[in-house]
Formats: sequence, structure tokens, C-alpha cells
Amino acid sequence: MPDFIDAPHRPPVSVDDLVRPHGGTLVDRLATGAEADDLRAHAATLPVVTLTDTQAADLEMIAVGAMSPLTGFLTEADYRSVLADIRLADGTVWPLAITLRVDEAPDADEVALAAPDGQLLATMQVTDRYTGDQAAEARAIFGTDDAEHPGVAIVYAQGEQVLGGPIRAFDLRPNLFGDYLQTPRETRTAFAAKGWRTAAGFQTRNPIHRAHEYLLKCAAEVTDGVLIHPLVGRTKEGDIPAEVRLRCYEVLLDAYFARDHAHLAVFPAAMRYAGPREAIFHALTRKNYGCTHFIVGRDHAGVGSYYGTYEAQQLTDRFTRDELGITILKFEHAFYCLRCEGMGSEKTCPHDAASHVFLSGTKVREMLGRGEVPPPQFSRPEVAEVLIEAYRLQGAGV
Ligand code: ADX
Repeated sequence: MPDFIDAPHRPPVSVDDLVRPHGGTLVDRLATGAEADDLRAHAATLPVVTLTDTQAADLEMIAVGAMSPLTGFLTEADYRSVLADIRLADGTVWPLAITLRVDEAPDADEVALAAPDGQLLATMQVTDRYTGDQAAEARAIFGTDDAEHPGVAIVYAQGEQVLGGPIRAFDLRPNLFGDYLQTPRETRTAFAAKGWRTAAGFQTRNPIHRAHEYLLKCAAEVTDGVLIHPLVGRTKEGDIPAEVRLRCYEVLLDAYFARDHAHLAVFPAAMRYAGPREAIFHALTRKNYGCTHFIVGRDHAGVGSYYGTYEAQQLTDRFTRDELGITILKFEHAFYCLRCEGMGSEKTCPHDAASHVFLSGTKVREMLGRGEVPPPQFSRPEVAEVLIEAYRLQGAGV
């Protein structure tokens, strides 16, 4: 920086200065030390419910407070209210059915919850048992009951019986992401240490391209920093594996981001592809991680053509700023314009589509599969190299 420009003034920030979690209190349902040992021993005496991948991710999110105010799987009153009104029974905004659907429910008031591989993770007080019609849930949450929809397929693959009630975890699934796996408490501590009072959360399930980078940098200009928070839970077949995507974020951050204003951590949730409702979920959970702002661009959390390009943004408008407690940063479809010589959108670029660099996902995958680097206006070459290497090692199944 030239010496005639003063460094901006950034007063110290404490964790208490950060945004309040959803519902007011950051939930902590993860026992540690002797308490965890006692719970683990107790769980071994209980009937076991084995979770699906998505349910195990939900359990982890609840345990670490990422789904505050949820303290367990939805009770019947909350479930019916979420489906009908996008709110818990007490009126708090909540968009997704975080349910424990089972094929067979043990006849017990307390059960142990196990990961798909059998590892015991938690105990659960079963306060509610109810029936949840899968097609009705699909229509309410996903706007379709089409079994081809990957999120709807997950609902159909689980039982009709639902168990509700608070959980208490004593173990988490093995951590595949090292220091990048951070609880909401940890990201909040990190933000305060960096002096960030405001932070913009960025959800992504894809390798990062220039449009993502543009959204992030626009957001960084109006906040203290951005939380790049790739989802690493279950995604659908054909999406790029999380570890490859993480390498893309690392090389991009190293080469193109001001490191004091960007924080990379992983989001352990599973993807549901619920478009508008999932955008609300993504925003509220990122508030729990300490974000004051959340980026919603084109077709957020969409799949196929189930949702309109800006339907997710429109749904956020149904709620007041206070109800969400996080500012939604809406972005229109962003592209590189050859005449502007930079990124922009219909809001900032006057030129027509002939000047815009557009590549379909299929076209990009074909190029990478052949070892060809896509144009730098679409993807940073460093990121393309990571993807080409992954394709070379693993074939087109990447
Ligand atoms: S998502 O399923 O996690 O939403 P993706 O990783 O593709 O998918 O997108 C991450 C975020 O960037 C979302 O908010 C999405 O709307 C936004 N986004 C992706 N591409 C563009 C683009 N070209 N223009 C505007 N927003 C975009």
C-alpha cells in the first residue's frame, strides 16, 4: 500500500461482539472427557438405530451447534410446522425436515445412534414417534415428489416412521479434513482473533470458478472477511469429491486472495438439493458459524431444472431481517465480459451475450477430462490444473 494511504482502523473484536446464533443460544450437545466416557458406556446398553449418511451428518451438525436452535431430531409438532410454515412450532424460521426416519423403531424411550459403519455416536431420548408421509414431505420441502430428484430420493429411501427428541453425542465421525473441520465455536473464535465483526458466508459444492471468486470478492469488499465454507457431506453422484475441491480452494486462496480477509473451513452437512428452502438453511447455519452475511447467487442449491434461477433469493424475501438474523447478499448470474475485461452481471455490464464467456458444466468436464485448461476467464489455471490432475488419476468418475 502506498505510504500516503492510512491502514484502515479495525478495533479489537471479542467473541461476544459477533452475531447471535439462530434462536439466541449456541447449542452444544457434544460431551467430552469423563462425561463422554459415561455416555459411551451407557449407549452400549441401549437398542441401536443405525443412521444413514445424511442422518449422521445431521447428528454432527446438531451436536456442534451448527443447527442451533435444534437440540435433536424434529419432534412431530416441529415437523408439521416446518412442512406447512417453514417455522418450528415456536415460530422460529426453520426450512428443512431434519428427521430421524427409520424402517423399524425400537420400542424404547432411549436409543443409541450409530454411524452407517456401526460406530456408536450418541444417545437420543425418544420423545416423539410419528408417521411422516414421504411424498407429502417431498412436496413441501422440495416442491416436487419426483423420485428422480436426488434429495427426494433420500427421503424415499428411508422409512415412514419417524423418531423425534434430543440427542447427546459423545463421538464424531472420523475427521477427514484436519484443521479445516471447525465447529461454530471455533470459527467464531477465529473471526474474533482476526478482528472480524462481520463475515460473509459462502456455500459451495463445486470446484471454485471465476464467478464464485467474483461473488466472494464483492462480499469481502463490504464485510470484514469471507468464510469459504464448502459442503463436504454427501453429494450426488457426478459432483466432484470434497478433497479435490478443497485443493482447488487452497490454490485459489494462495494465489488470489488477501489472506487476512478469507477463512477456509468445511461444512459437514449433506446436500439435499432443496433449492430455496436449502438456501435458507445454508444461511441460518452459517449465522451459527458467526456470519452476518450470506451469499445467494443463481440457482442456489438447485439441481436440474426443478427451481427457478432466482427462486432461492425470492424465498428469503418472505422473512424479515430480524427473523433471519443474517443479511442475504443476492447476486445475479455473473460472467466474464471480454469487452469490459472483467467479471460482471446484467447489473454492471451493458454488453450482449456474444461478449460473455459462457461454458456449460458438461463442456468444462469434457475439456478437463481431455487435459485441456479452460479459458482463464472461466477458471483460474491453478484450479484447472488441480482438476486435470484429479481426472488423470481417477478418470471421468471424478
Ligand atoms: S450450491 O449448490 O452449493 O449452491 P455452487 O457451488 O455451484 O452450488 O454455488 C455456490 C454459490 O455460488 C451459490 O450461492 C450459487 O448461487 C452461486 N453461483 C454459482 N455460480 C454462479 C454464477 N455464475 N453467478 C452467480 N452466482 C453463482
